[in-house]
Amino acid sequence: MRSDIRFLLGNEDRRIGNIDPQTTVLNYLRLNEHKFGTKEGCAEGDCGACTIVLGEVDEAAAGGMSYRTVNACIQFVPTLDGKQLLTVEHLKSADGSLHPVQQAMVDNHGSQCGFCTPGFVMSLYKIWLDGGEEERGAINDALAGNLCRCTGYGPIIEAARQSGGAAINDTIEQSRRWDVASRLKGLIGDDGGLSLSHESGRYFAPRSSDELAQLLITHPDAVILAGGTDVGLWVTKHLMRLDPIIYIGDVADLKQVEQIGSDLHIGAGATYSAAHDALGAVAADIGELIRRIGSRQIRNAGTVGGNIANGSPIGDTPPALIALGARIVLRMGDVRRDIALEDFFITYGKQDRAKGEFVEKIIVPQPGAQTQFKAWKISKRFDQDITAVLGAFAITLENGVIRDIRVAFGGMAGTPMRAKKCEAALMGQPWNDATLNAARRALADDFKPMTDMRASGEYRMLVAQNLLSKLFIETTQPGVATRLVGKAAAHA
Ligand SMILES: Cc1cc2nc3c(=O)[nH]c(=O)nc-3n(C[C@H](O)[C@H](O)[C@H](O)COP(=O)(O)OP(=O)(O)OC[C@H]3O[C@@H](n4cnc5c(N)ncnc54)[C@H](O)[C@@H]3O)c2cc1C
Ligand code: FES
Ligand code: FES
Repeated sequence: MRSDIRFLLGNEDRRIGNIDPQTTVLNYLRLNEHKFGTKEGCAEGDCGACTIVLGEVDEAAAGGMSYRTVNACIQFVPTLDGKQLLTVEHLKSADGSLHPVQQAMVDNHGSQCGFCTPGFVMSLYKIWLDGGEEERGAINDALAGNLCRCTGYGPIIEAARQSGGAAINDTIEQSRRWDVASRLKGLIGDDGGLSLSHESGRYFAPRSSDELAQLLITHPDAVILAGGTDVGLWVTKHLMRLDPIIYIGDVADLKQVEQIGSDLHIGAGATYSAAHDALGAVAADIGELIRRIGSRQIRNAGTVGGNIANGSPIGDTPPALIALGARIVLRMGDVRRDIALEDFFITYGKQDRAKGEFVEKIIVPQPGAQTQFKAWKISKRFDQDITAVLGAFAITLENGVIRDIRVAFGGMAGTPMRAKKCEAALMGQPWNDATLNAARRALADDFKPMTDMRASGEYRMLVAQNLLSKLFIETTQPGVATRLVGKAAAHA
């Protein structure tokens, strides 16, 4: 394993052998590189002021490189290994002229105090790299992780529309991507990953799941780092010291998303963005749910595996996956366990995972042709918000009778959980008002939700019961409008 971090900062080689592994990319840029364009707002992945673009070798992508926006404030420097890091400084042309996305921000008065502007510019830059975007919804999705408190979003959205497609000789203009890809391959070679030892802590980045399994046997107390959208905050908000860290983002076989027979297999290291389309094809409402997890930057880093492994009672994917009957594979050394996802969550803060064990993959079965799947996330804001209640339902009807039903909730107990009494009240019953009311009452026996800053227990229970009513309406009265957004999902 190699003991220095190698990456491209724009077009310049960087090799770093001696750095605290939990130094954030944002601090590195500002304090070590003295590149002050990238700003710190929240230091927790929420505001987008620190948005950067990361390029990675990807044989399947145009020019052999793929690019994504992430939040520099919660990514650690060693995760840059083998990648190209682009910041707002790299948009400047050699003759000093502005990049089309910057010019469009000027032309549309898209900036006032300017604090959020570099982050917005990088998100706009990613839109531009993809060939531009005209459609308002798609622009909203790309910009939902960038907050502006002065300008208002209209001018910025207009800048996104106007800059798309404008051609210039950009730092990573397409014809040069092959060159960047070959430089990156040359930089890291085929050397079995990273092993850093610094006085503040150790860091390992294996390249295969076999190496990962072995490392975790040697270091069973290591912190597993995937997308860092939780772990990053342990450092920036809780000032924790993590030692050692084992990063799984470079483990190629953990990032696979593949259909095997009728099941979808999602490697635990696959990001939400990588798994989005495949999960949306399993059930449209899961696609819609993932679209609302965090922001584009968070989805480009955070993993489905991390969303499960963290054991959060308000993680968005577990209730939906439980309702679909998903399983997970846990691995320690060469020993694997295949368990129902719902059995992974034992109680608040406790999961069925031993030291040295890791989540290897998630297996999602395709629902039967007669099964309808519905999931709704209830939160105070539409984008970038943590769930108060999430209800997920897989219902199979035959001649108006419920032949099969799985109901799972997040935000109602200490773990994501099936509503078994509610299911029992529904199973085998005619799907009518009387059954709906019995199921609503049964929910109160399943859960005693807590009150916290997101919602009161009473509110949570009422919302959960009302989601059952919404399920009833959507599955019995298809013409009735029940959604402002995600309408396509409702009728899929
Ligand atoms: C701004 C912001 C918005 C967010 N919005 C949402 C949201 O809308 N919905 C939502 O559900 N979550 C949200 N989150 C939380 C977070 O993004 C998710 O929980 C995410 O899925 C965590 O995945 P990760 O890859 O980033 O995990 P990491 O932060 O890398 O790890 C999380 C935990 O899982 C462990 N872990 C990771 N992978 C494995 C593995 N393969 N095996 C064993 N253990 C593992 C880690 O050790 C750690 O304990 C948000 C977070 C932020 C910062
Ligand atoms: S500083 Fe707010 S998202 Fe990074
Ligand atoms: S211009 Fe001031 S926060 Fe956006």
